[in-house]
Amino acid sequence: MARLTLDELRRKRAEAQKSIYLREGEFRGKIIVHMGTCGIAAGARAIVSAFLEELEKSGVKDIMITTSGCAGLCSKEPMATVEMLNSPPVRYVELTPEKAREIFQAHIIGGTAVAEYALGIGSERGG
Ligand code: FES
Repeated sequence: MARLTLDELRRKRAEAQKSIYLREGEFRGKIIVHMGTCGIAAGARAIVSAFLEELEKSGVKDIMITTSGCAGLCSKEPMATVEMLNSPPVRYVELTPEKAREIFQAHIIGGTAVAEYALGIGSERGG
C-alpha cells in the first residue's frame, strides 16, 4: 500500500470528522468537558453548567455539549475541548465558569478561539 503524505492524512481525518458530525445530526460544533476524577475535583461540573447556561441563553441549536474522561493533565484541570466543523480542535485549560462563558461567546458565537486560555490549537484530539 502506498504511503500517505501528511496532507493526505489531514484531509482524510477532516473528511472522517465531517461525516461523524453529519451522522450526529448536523452539529456545527461540540464542546467536550473533561470529567475525569481530577476534572470533577477541580470544578468541571461548574464548567458544564456555565456552557449549558450560555448555550440556552444564546438559542444556538447546532452545538453539542458533551463530557469525556480524564485528559491526562491533572494540573491543568478543569479542561474543555472545542471542536468546530472544519477547524482544528482547541483544548482550553484551567477553566473557570467566567472563562467558559467568555470562550462560548468568542469561539462558539464569534468564531475566534481564545488563545489566552488554550493549551494548543490543533495539537489535540477531543475526547
Ligand atoms: S486523573 Fe488527573 S488527568 Fe487523569
